[in-house]
Amino acid sequence: MEQYIIKGGKPLMGEVTISGYKNAALGIIAAAIMTDETVKIENVPKIKDIDILLQAIEKIGAKVDRINRNTVKINGSKISSLKVDFDFVRKIRASYYLVGSLLGKYKNAQVAFPGGCNIGSRPFDQHIKGFEALGAKVKIEHGSICAHADELKGGHIYFDCTSVGATINTMLAACLADGQTILENAAKEPHVVDVANFLNSMGANIKGAGTDIIRIKGVPKLHGSEYSIIPDQIEAGTFMFAAAASQGDVLVKNVIPKHLEAFTAKLLEIGAEVQEFDDSVRVRVSGRLGNTHVKTLVYPGFLTDMQPQMTTLLSVSKGTSIVTENIFENRFKYVDELTRMGANIKVESNTAIIEGVDKLTGAIVNAPDLRGGAALVLAGLMAEGFTTVENVEYIERGYENFEYKMQQLGADIIKVDSEDTKAIRKFKLKVS
Ligand code: UD1
Repeated sequence: MEQYIIKGGKPLMGEVTISGYKNAALGIIAAAIMTDETVKIENVPKIKDIDILLQAIEKIGAKVDRINRNTVKINGSKISSLKVDFDFVRKIRASYYLVGSLLGKYKNAQVAFPGGCNIGSRPFDQHIKGFEALGAKVKIEHGSICAHADELKGGHIYFDCTSVGATINTMLAACLADGQTILENAAKEPHVVDVANFLNSMGANIKGAGTDIIRIKGVPKLHGSEYSIIPDQIEAGTFMFAAAASQGDVLVKNVIPKHLEAFTAKLLEIGAEVQEFDDSVRVRVSGRLGNTHVKTLVYPGFLTDMQPQMTTLLSVSKGTSIVTENIFENRFKYVDELTRMGANIKVESNTAIIEGVDKLTGAIVNAPDLRGGAALVLAGLMAEGFTTVENVEYIERGYENFEYKMQQLGADIIKVDSEDTKAIRKFKLKVS
């Protein structure tokens, strides 16, 4: 089993370049098979979740050419099966986007029910509401989502809650429906806008993405396109917080500063220095940070995916902080691991009460999920001594070259097989 070993206490210094946004790439790859022409997508992050989705579309007959590490060409003209029952697909949440894209293009889809991080109950009812409003019949049978329509017709949908997944999924299917679809209470996240921009570049007619009302005029078919995915706001936020956690000075490059405003605001509030440039942000910290209250909300509020990193940063800040998780109820699993490192955090229902301690100390900890795992790496950077983070496969699902990018900033971190005692000893000797 691979693990990260981190020797804490070194400030991160230098520059890091952010990869393409995983959550946008997942929607865009699903959308790419909706045309029979070839689509070229750039800035695709090389991470596990993307590999799995690419393998899944290959399995049903799409042609996938990896031009280089971050560029892929996809051709969906030879799709021969509308049944996505590939074992791995269950492991990623966003496999559900194949329901929207296949339903839109072929009026039929059967996709294994998705998995993803265990961060709370993740219902699918709003996706079903969207598809049914377009005239589809949806059933969950034998572990798969089965959707079928004799004809897809535009509809008017008012979502009961703001869901990124349901907004993108309904938008995918609606692009090729007959007539106009209106999505109300739609999610406004940057990746909703990116998927809409991509679909528009393929000839779709989507207006209003980024607001809570999206209007889609169905078109008969989509065409080929070339598109570059937006930078990953969560990876960028994670490196901003890593810079702060390690009392460092880091220029986070290839970002859209607007997408990072909620993180920037909190960093400024607790005493970090943040400078925004056109496509980069610099985070600098010297001295102990202060406390704050944070509530996770839908965009442009504070993103739930950055909650574990925020809580970790606050675990060594002055005073008492309160973090409230409003999106996923099970997103505090990493807190037990932080406690092992000396943090003083009490979780009551969806709220963490954090009494800032002077320091964390290294320990063996377990990544419980993707973002919780990244937060534990940040904890390792702050802690005195060595921290071992197990289950790094969770972290690799969402961060490209995570330990390499950290190393480039001067962090003492390696990824190593837990059985490779020689490499572990060598690393520990080198950094001691
Ligand atoms: C996406 C992101 C994830 C992020 C989340 C919230 C991807 C691949 N994943 O997940 O990283 O944490 O947005 O920003 O983009 N809900 C329902 N019914 C539904 C769907 C959702 O009640 O049919 C609820 C969920 O339980 C949750 C809330 O809506 O409380 C938001 O979920 P949603 O936006 O759908 O999250 P995902 O799209 O799964």
